Amino acid sequence: MSAPDRPRFAPRWLELRERADAAARAPELLRPLRAWLAERTAPAGPPGSPHGLVIRDLGCGIGSMGRWLAVRLPGPQQWILHDLDPALLELAGARMPVTADDGMPVAATTARGDLAALTADDFAGTSLVTASALLDLLTRDEVEDLAEACVGAGTPALLALSVAGRVELSPSDPFDAEITDAFNDHQRRTDQGRALLGPDAVAAAVAAFERRGATVLVQSSPWRLGCAESALTAEWLRGWVGAAHAQRPELAPEAVAYLRRRLEECAAGELTVAVHHTDLLALPPHPSGSE
Ligand SMILES: C[S@@+](CC[C@H](N)C(=O)[O-])C[C@H]1O[C@@H](n2cnc3c(N)ncnc32)[C@H](O)[C@@H]1O
Repeated sequence: MSAPDRPRFAPRWLELRERADAAARAPELLRPLRAWLAERTAPAGPPGSPHGLVIRDLGCGIGSMGRWLAVRLPGPQQWILHDLDPALLELAGARMPVTADDGMPVAATTARGDLAALTADDFAGTSLVTASALLDLLTRDEVEDLAEACVGAGTPALLALSVAGRVELSPSDPFDAEITDAFNDHQRRTDQGRALLGPDAVAAAVAAFERRGATVLVQSSPWRLGCAESALTAEWLRGWVGAAHAQRPELAPEAVAYLRRRLEECAAGELTVAVHHTDLLALPPHPSGSE
């Protein structure tokens, strides 16, 4: 499948979810990440010096991960934002912060292309690889290749917000489980020859990194959506039920009635939703084998 045939992600959807994403990301992974980076990265020099962090955000979309993380990392940073979609890259590049919280400069460039083509050679000199809401869109081979590239280059990876395949809606509805199962099957579908991992992505990534000697930490990172997030909840419901329906057309007309019911509850402020995700930090082994 050539890259231009891949599904496109609407900037509006990525904007709508940015606040919930930021609230969901697991800050617990930042302390071990910062410690690892402090130990292995050359100390920051004066602004404009070549020292500091080089960070590649794969599948950056409109750059939500960079906006969240850049201000939480110390020292000068050079971000390279990767995506297939040139329109998203333009938005991401234009919206990156220009300083970190410590006042050090943050610069960003964009790189259009398929992340599946990236190798350890491409990651040489890279301090950190990040991705967010991406892992579940990949195949097992692509996750293996990503782990190989990161560990081969000695680069840690922070892979955030991968779908876990679990949602909790309150109040519950007898049709919740049916929609959840159909949606998860849709996430695991074979799309033009690519068998997507969907909710199996985190387990595949943990195994891929650990097999190469990396230390892997995982933390749950659920969206918790209430009245204040009703616009996101409504859009998520349309996508969630729509994908379930696309996967199992026989679910109509129940799925249509279910969506109508859930949207009414959402509009009335009566619905809360937890959409479970997982964040993963993979720290490659020390080149000498020592810790
Ligand atoms: C669900 S969006 C997430 C965007 C962003 N990381 C965020 O958290 O808002 C997935 C992004 O990955 C990009 N993408 C998907 N497959 C890709 C690939 N093989 N190579 C590069 N980018 C890819 C899409 O274009 C899209 O921008």
